[in-house]
Amino acid sequence: MNILVTGGAGFIGSHTVVELLAAGHDVVIVDNFDNSDHSVVARLEKLCGKTIKLIEADIRDTEKIESTLRQNNIDTVLHFAALKAVGESVQKPLAYYQNNITGLLSLLQAMKSAKVTNLVFSSSCTVYGDPDQVPIDESAPLKKTTNPYGETKQMAERIISDVAATGDIRAVMLRYFNPIGAHPSGLIGELPNGTPNCLVPYMTQAAAGLRDPLTVFGTDYDTPDGSGVRDYIHVVDLAKAHVKAAEYLMKQKEPTSIFNIGTGKGVSVLELISIFEEVNQISVPHTLGPRRPGDVPMIYASAEKAETELGWKAETTVQQALVDAWRWQQSLQQEA
Ligand code: NAD
Ligand code: UFG
Repeated sequence: MNILVTGGAGFIGSHTVVELLAAGHDVVIVDNFDNSDHSVVARLEKLCGKTIKLIEADIRDTEKIESTLRQNNIDTVLHFAALKAVGESVQKPLAYYQNNITGLLSLLQAMKSAKVTNLVFSSSCTVYGDPDQVPIDESAPLKKTTNPYGETKQMAERIISDVAATGDIRAVMLRYFNPIGAHPSGLIGELPNGTPNCLVPYMTQAAAGLRDPLTVFGTDYDTPDGSGVRDYIHVVDLAKAHVKAAEYLMKQKEPTSIFNIGTGKGVSVLELISIFEEVNQISVPHTLGPRRPGDVPMIYASAEKAETELGWKAETTVQQALVDAWRWQQSLQQEA
């Protein structure tokens, strides 16, 4: 397949490019480097032993995206490009609606004009809001989300469903739980610009002494140890789910399908810190703090549908993911 990867220089997109190339697909990356570094493309080339085609552009530049789709005979789009930080979205809702919704509309318009029909969309478990029960499966109702980022993902799913209903596209929407870790090569990993919002990149930078101690956001939730519970999935497992999804789309009969992509296990913030310390034999300086606005107390997946229909299952432990995350942090420091 000829696949356009929007946000392909980002954390999940870059790991997915590796798996797509390994599966024999051709890839074009579109990224505006809003939250990634140009060095990622060279790292990908080193890792994959191939030249990677990069178009530096914003997905809101509809004409540029349309011409990219046409010139590269793209048949499938994997759409990662978006802003993604739950807490930040509460502070900057306009930026989130502007990028995530206007960006999607622009991409869909370009796909329609270029007659590209297949879309894999990066959705999120945040669309479930604060769930009534866990593990949560795809049939659970989508409740009011707790932050503007989650709203953009719910809206995006509705927009994609409406467009798919016209027959213009077919889409797989993957609801990711919390991706962590890095490629075992140590060549690519999570490299957000500025201070990380997500737990694991902050944790690795705090352990390396590059940041103030990690603040545990909330210790009074109704969870076993009072801290928030999430389903942490290795980013390489998540990347592999995209290869399965792109291939599934080729034979998908329905306009859309939705899959949870998680491990099925919940881990608390405090547990994650202690697993990190144990497997890497390094302490994570941390303090206990108040809840972060927009967070839900506890969410983890039922990923059975992905296993039975997509033929995908998470294979890597959270321990291994934290070893890989730390290796990545150390390789960054060795380079600096
Ligand atoms: P990321 O920030 O590392 O990657 C996103 C990439 O998209 C970045 O390289 C950024 O520069 C690029 N980008 C952003 N806006 C763009 C635009 N308008 N035009 C072109 N490029 C643009 O994020 P990620 O963790 O790799 O997330 C990828 C997708 O997965 C996002 O849609 C995110 O919402 C979704 N998601 C992420 C998580 C997570 O925890 N990381 C969980 C669920 C869903
Ligand atoms: N947390 C801390 N301290 C920090 C950062 C996070 O205690 O410095 C806690 C949060 O409160 C939460 C957990 O760690 O309980 C995970 O937080 P993240 O920011 O790493 O992840 P979120 O669950 O908030 O959101 C992430 C992505 C979203 C995605 C979602 C899917 O940022 O894009 O996972 O669950 F949609």
